[in-house]
Amino acid sequence: MQRFIVFLSVCLLLVGCGKPKPIVVIPEPVDCTPKKGAFVINNETYLCFDNLEESGREFSKVVSDGFKQLLKVNLNLGDEDSQRNNYILFELNDKSDDNLGEEGYTLVVKRNRVIAKANTPAGLFYAYQTLLQLTYPSQLANEKKMEIPCCKITDKPRFAYRGAHLDVSRHFFDVNFVKHYIDIMAAYKLNKFHWHLTDDHGWRIQIDRYPELTKIGAWRPERSSWDTLHPVLPEEPCTYGGYYTKAQIRDIVEYAAARHIDIIPEIEIPGHCSAILATYPQYACDDYPYTVAVGPYWPPKAIMCAGNDDVLTFYKNVLDEVAELFPYPYIHIGGDEAFNDNWQVCPKCQQRIADKHLADETDLQRWLMNEIEQHLTTLGKKAIMWDDIVSDDMVNKCAVMCWQGLDVAKTAAKHGNEVILCPTSHCYFNFYQADPETEPLAMTGLITLEKAYSFDPVPEGLTKEQQKKILGGQCNLWTEFINTPEQAEYMLLPRLCALAECVWTPADKKDYKNFTQRLDYHKPFLPTANQ
Ligand code: ACM
Ligand code: ZN
Repeated sequence: MQRFIVFLSVCLLLVGCGKPKPIVVIPEPVDCTPKKGAFVINNETYLCFDNLEESGREFSKVVSDGFKQLLKVNLNLGDEDSQRNNYILFELNDKSDDNLGEEGYTLVVKRNRVIAKANTPAGLFYAYQTLLQLTYPSQLANEKKMEIPCCKITDKPRFAYRGAHLDVSRHFFDVNFVKHYIDIMAAYKLNKFHWHLTDDHGWRIQIDRYPELTKIGAWRPERSSWDTLHPVLPEEPCTYGGYYTKAQIRDIVEYAAARHIDIIPEIEIPGHCSAILATYPQYACDDYPYTVAVGPYWPPKAIMCAGNDDVLTFYKNVLDEVAELFPYPYIHIGGDEAFNDNWQVCPKCQQRIADKHLADETDLQRWLMNEIEQHLTTLGKKAIMWDDIVSDDMVNKCAVMCWQGLDVAKTAAKHGNEVILCPTSHCYFNFYQADPETEPLAMTGLITLEKAYSFDPVPEGLTKEQQKKILGGQCNLWTEFINTPEQAEYMLLPRLCALAECVWTPADKKDYKNFTQRLDYHKPFLPTANQ
């Protein structure tokens, strides 16, 4: 009996000492070997940086602020060598480790130290994100000490392009929310922010040469019911909307860069242009009284006149200013859902078709997009277009963003174009995530968490060479039915976590059940807009 009691006491003690904490990183790393024991973060822990030079100052601030915010500990900053007993070291490799590439890292957690190594500051940043997540189980257990389970992680992304899109035209989201969105992306190792800045429902970017765009085109009436189709009345005051000044945009670009996120601005051409035509009706083919659109839909006939040289000049002037604001080489120039009814009956557009020996209105759009693409080339920029441009005989050299499915992505990759995937089948997070009966109003369509998780950006049937054209994937958050930061987050999370694993983790390591178990540890930490 006595022996049994001793045995029981030892068992209880072992349980009390805590089982090793699970490793719950999202996206799942390429390789992770758990080891015995744990590193304990406390007020004695030193944070050290080696080899970081210029970029180091910014990074050390991001890291120490992050630890303070999430772990509620103020870590001491030290130098790398320390004979210290308890330190976390971030170190850039002297000699590049080919295995890790541009964004990979290694993270070794031992009982007395944590060592993160990478070839680039981006790699170290991802090591830091992993480290934060390794603390989740300990934080949830509410223990006095914060433990990081000992392990060795070697990690790098499957795709170079890991994106999230935000539509700020249908509803405007302020600078604070955009930064918050960027923080969410950074936490899950996404690195491309696609900023949908112009559409029928509002023009959201200051352009010095065309100040009326933001005086008129950024504003519409505030309606109590959004789901209405009746047009704007002349007596209705246009008080709802907003736009980003150039200073705000520069600030956001810098904020994103510190988190290793590039920003791709989108200027829609030649459709989705009611906000432009409300401002400059002379750029339309007809004399319809265009207004900034209200309600979740838009006048499908709104299209810029492709036969009017002033329209080309307008777009080129706008893009000159856009190119100056955004350092990333790619600019998105739209091209989706350009209904060409007006072009079919516009004398100027028909004249253009004749002059340029074009086959039809579809060909006219290709010509127009090509003109703009050429202009971007003179600015040292590359164009991204929606996949509406793709055809069997396509000539455009742009990167193609595929929303309509994997077949169109395949065609584009076979043509040698770079391809980014965000099909409506898996990546439209404005669609319902559960039974519409129990959910707030959203765009028709259902993408459950499991469906989102089943996304694979590489279409079947491509050769190895063609597969290299697939840059990666992204989720899209269109905001026709999303008008608050809280609703945006509700739609985004946790589906963004699933998307992150689809674009980072090797396909053969993905496992939905295991993902949902890890996700349980993340839910209490998913950022909220009101934080
Ligand atoms: C799109 O959803 N029209 C790109
Ligand atoms: Zn026209």
